[in-house]
Amino acid sequence: MNILHISDLHFGPRHWEGDDQLLLEKLNSYHADIVINTGDSTTDGLEDEYAAAGQFLAGLQCKNVISVIGNHDKRNMRSHELFEKYIDDSEIITIPETIKTNKKHLFLNREITKVRKNFTDVNFLKSITVKGHSILIINIDSTELYNDDGFVEKAALNVISEQIKQTTYDLPLLLTHYSILGTDDCPLKNSSTLIDFVQQHKIKYVFCGHTHELELMRTNDLYLDHSFFHFMCGTLSSCNHAKDDNMFLYYQNLGSDNMGLTLVRILLEDGTMRFQEERVL
Ligand SMILES: [Fe+2]
Repeated sequence: MNILHISDLHFGPRHWEGDDQLLLEKLNSYHADIVINTGDSTTDGLEDEYAAAGQFLAGLQCKNVISVIGNHDKRNMRSHELFEKYIDDSEIITIPETIKTNKKHLFLNREITKVRKNFTDVNFLKSITVKGHSILIINIDSTELYNDDGFVEKAALNVISEQIKQTTYDLPLLLTHYSILGTDDCPLKNSSTLIDFVQQHKIKYVFCGHTHELELMRTNDLYLDHSFFHFMCGTLSSCNHAKDDNMFLYYQNLGSDNMGLTLVRILLEDGTMRFQEERVL
């Protein structure tokens, strides 16, 4: 099973000056089984930005393109509706409004906002089969409406956990926008809640973005005897402010002992784009 990992596309004011068509051709040349997009597809969560991001993702010649929502995508009261309209219309896992929750703006006031769906978290599961293996892709919304700091809602995780327990699968993959191990100026404030979730479900592969920097780690919990890979990909196509270049990751044979990992940097020099591949594993 081969996977492409892209992140932080930033359609809108922070989108890069690279050639998106050339980039799509390069991404499509890998013929990946799954493409993972770990959020911030837009810069301000506006409808035209969502439409542009959706059009770009539709240009990927892969039938399993899976995106999670990022903090920039959540700068709009209609973010969850726009995500459903332009990015992914999978069934959202909701929770009853009567449950006690801690995430701000998790439920919009129906009487004031008149929204069709007032639950703003975008959590969903996706079961896909690749080469005879059933993959469960667990998409967790680690963002909070109007906030650049991350937060996961424990009550939502509990409902997702129940659904996972009722699903049969060979390999679970967790997608979330924020790092659950690292930190930055706008971190996932209650990351330990998501680490507990990863350990509870024996998840071995976690994919994220957000900081625009590359961080490839493997944890080892000595007490629980559980280890997981934590792959944080830098930005694909924003005007990058971090130390890293624009980039994407390509995983070969993920889930097997002979996993390969290639980092592809995208260099913009004098108006031309160049791809530089580096084998990591
Ligand atoms: Fe972000």
